[in-house]
Amino acid sequence: MSETVKLTIGEKTYELPVIEGSENEKAIDITKLRAESGYITIDTGFKNTGSTKSAVTFLDGEKGILRYRGYPIEQLAEKAEFLEVSYLLIYGHLPTKTEYQEFKENITTHTLVHEDMRMFFEAYPAKAHPMGIMAASLCTLSTFYPESLDPNRSDEAVDLTIHRLLAKIPTLAAWSYKNAMRHPVIYPKNHFDYCENFLHMMFAMPTCEYSPDPIITNALNKLLILHADHEQNCSASTVRVVGSSQANLYASISAGVSALWGPLHGGANQAVIEMLETIINDGGDLEKWINKAKDKEDSFRLMGFGHRVYKNFDPRAKIIKKAADDVLGKLGVVDPVLDIAKKLEEVALNDEYFQSRGLYPNVDFYSGIIYRALGIPTEMFTVMFALGRLPGWIAQWKEMMHDKQPISRPRQIYTGETERDFVDIDKR
Ligand code: CMC
Repeated sequence: MSETVKLTIGEKTYELPVIEGSENEKAIDITKLRAESGYITIDTGFKNTGSTKSAVTFLDGEKGILRYRGYPIEQLAEKAEFLEVSYLLIYGHLPTKTEYQEFKENITTHTLVHEDMRMFFEAYPAKAHPMGIMAASLCTLSTFYPESLDPNRSDEAVDLTIHRLLAKIPTLAAWSYKNAMRHPVIYPKNHFDYCENFLHMMFAMPTCEYSPDPIITNALNKLLILHADHEQNCSASTVRVVGSSQANLYASISAGVSALWGPLHGGANQAVIEMLETIINDGGDLEKWINKAKDKEDSFRLMGFGHRVYKNFDPRAKIIKKAADDVLGKLGVVDPVLDIAKKLEEVALNDEYFQSRGLYPNVDFYSGIIYRALGIPTEMFTVMFALGRLPGWIAQWKEMMHDKQPISRPRQIYTGETERDFVDIDKR
């Protein structure tokens, strides 16, 4: 007989089913609790609430485990290509040679963005944050493909939208950078692979070609893989929530980009570098900044530290820290920001405040240092995160649609005024 949990409220006892996952994670199913008892459960910020069953990504925050479709992140980051991982996340298995070839060809043939989209880029001010452009332009893509507005049209139609999204996001990202520089946009070149093509669109000029450097393309490939999915985080949940209303995939992904932008989520990678630069410019007194982070009266937090689920270490941060050393070493880059980051990490990890709360460097702590070494400007860091996360968002959306999940609609406990009569304006 399957396990149940007994919940006693007053005189009555309710028997609630227990759901168990393939890694023995357990959840109490409260779906029918309100109908039977009148009670709802409350968990602000969903700290202990599962919103779905999912077969995409497994992570164990206590043990520092992260696996996409069962494959350890360490192996994927070491051996795979980003598009291979994208296929794995979206379709559930590693592609065969033929499947991969076809997938890559489909993506390569859609890298060009409709010429009319360029006018939007020309209209953005130079100081526009590239994440604002990213969210807007992804949603704008839907206006060019009206047939994609029905997310239930057909599997082929969904696949076409998936290919278009994966193909066009590097073009849109690079164009948002060119916009900030007030440089002409650079068109994709389809003989380049995914990472090379993005770097070409970022760094080529009408006056000079871009020649890919394997150190840089390999580092980018690894970073994108490390960011590719992270189960029910803020942006993935947003994609699922928006998608659950049957909004189209472009709109759902655009909502995910907006959720990612915040400094407590993907925006932390930009915030980390800005924080480290501020510390350096302020004289490098680490104790002062650590004390500020510990002070509850001060809104300052140590950016790139702490995670909702990782309480021992973030496996992605471990790989990225090593990659930062490798990449900077190979490129011969000496960056004072890397030195201060290492010192700050050491001070924080030996501090009781951070130890007792399980606050460790997360994926964003060292990623920005690599992006800097690759020549990516700070304001583009969160866009880089979005580029990496896109296949994860798509996989989460696809699973939600396949499982026919009902519209996301939480309940609340109302704490406002009880009923009262309207008062005419001259009597208030
Ligand atoms: N600096 C100082 N104190 C912190 C920090 C930090 N970075 N993070 C958490 N705390 C403290 C917090 O004040 C609280 O202390 P107390 O128990 O005394 O009230 C305790 O640690 C628990 O924090 P919380 O805010 O309840 O934890 P959470 O799970 O709600 O938040 C977090 C997780 C990532 C939003 C938070 O750790 C944070 O703000 N970190 C800095 C921003 C950051 O690096 N975000 C990137 C996350 S990784 C990329 C991604 O996947 O999004």
